[in-house]
Amino acid sequence: MVVLITGGAGYIGSHTCVELLQAGYEIIVLDNYRNSHPESLKRVEQITGRGFKVYRGDLLDEKSIEKVFIENNIEAVIHFAGLKAVGESVQIPLMYYECNINGTIKLCNVMKKYNVKNLVFSSSATVYGVPERIPISEDAALEAQSPYGRTKQMIEEILRDLYVSDQEWSIALLRYFNPIGAHESGLIGEAPNGIPNNLMPYITQVAIGKLKVLNIFGNKYPTKDGTGVRDYIHVVDLAKGHLKALEKVSSATGVEAYNLGTGKGYSVLEIVEAFEKAANIKIPYRIVEPRKGDIAICYADPSKARRELGWTAEKEIEEMCMDSWRWQSRNPNGYVEDSIVLQ
Ligand code: NAD
Ligand code: UD1
Repeated sequence: MVVLITGGAGYIGSHTCVELLQAGYEIIVLDNYRNSHPESLKRVEQITGRGFKVYRGDLLDEKSIEKVFIENNIEAVIHFAGLKAVGESVQIPLMYYECNINGTIKLCNVMKKYNVKNLVFSSSATVYGVPERIPISEDAALEAQSPYGRTKQMIEEILRDLYVSDQEWSIALLRYFNPIGAHESGLIGEAPNGIPNNLMPYITQVAIGKLKVLNIFGNKYPTKDGTGVRDYIHVVDLAKGHLKALEKVSSATGVEAYNLGTGKGYSVLEIVEAFEKAANIKIPYRIVEPRKGDIAICYADPSKARRELGWTAEKEIEEMCMDSWRWQSRNPNGYVEDSIVLQ
């Protein structure tokens, strides 16, 4: 099967490319490298020993999407491409709505034109907003709290409307919890631009000496130790979930949302401790004011994905920390040339 991967050069996309290639799929990547580097795709080739076509193009340019469909016999699409920084989305909301929503509409227009109606979409647990019940199941109310989150919520609604209009579509809405970790090779991983917003890349940059101290956003939450609790999932487990979702959309029409998480919650302090143990490095931290918009506890009820996709996250927190550290320590500057440290 030939699968188009939009945003395939990014963090989750590159790991999914590896899993797809290793499972025998043909893949085509479309990416504008807005938040990634072509080197990640070279590393995907290095890991898998398989080549694939890459198109540098923007989803906002319908012609460049169409070129991919004209030149290849695409049978399904996994759609990662989009902007993802919550804080930035508050500063430049129009760019987020334009890129994420218009980009998805243009992609679906081209898919429809070429009669490709199998789609796996990257949604996010952020669509739940402040959850009423924990663990969070897919039927919980959706109340995204940021422009970024609202783009995901709106795209989910657009895709549901698309299915209502034409029941040949088959769409999986994957609501990711908190992906961390990296491929065990240490060749691909998360390479954020500038100072990281998310916990694990911040910790690894403190560990490598790029940042001095971890700021822990509040310790008065109603949690076991007062710090925020999240459902951290290994990015390779997450990538494998896409293969299961692809099988599902290839076998039945419909539109379904799935939580991709482990179902376990870890606090910030527990993550710091697990990382220190895995990397054998002390992480200096200080408690600062809570971050605006943060919630206390968020973890998934992943039973629907287990039941309907036959998927369960397997990797534990120790492995997530070890793999995050291997990636960061071997690639202190991410994908910037010559940054790999040979050991
Ligand atoms: P990423 O930024 O690493 O990857 C996104 C990729 O899309 C990048 O390679 C970027 O260059 C590309 N891209 C962006 N806009 C584009 C456009 N207009 N045209 C073509 N390419 C474009 O992000 P990621 O962490 O791999 O996330 C992938 C998807 O999963 C995103 O949609 C994100 O919102 C969603 N998601 C991520 C997380 C997370 O914590 N990483 C959590 C929930 C959901
Ligand atoms: C953030 C996004 C969310 C997105 C998710 C995964 C916000 C408000 N939410 O969620 O929309 O889906 O990332 O990409 O940005 N923490 C610290 N210090 C830090 C960084 C984080 O203490 O320097 C804490 C946070 O308060 C939180 C936990 O670590 O309790 C995890 O934070 P983070 O990795 O940013 O993920 P989320 O807050 O879940």
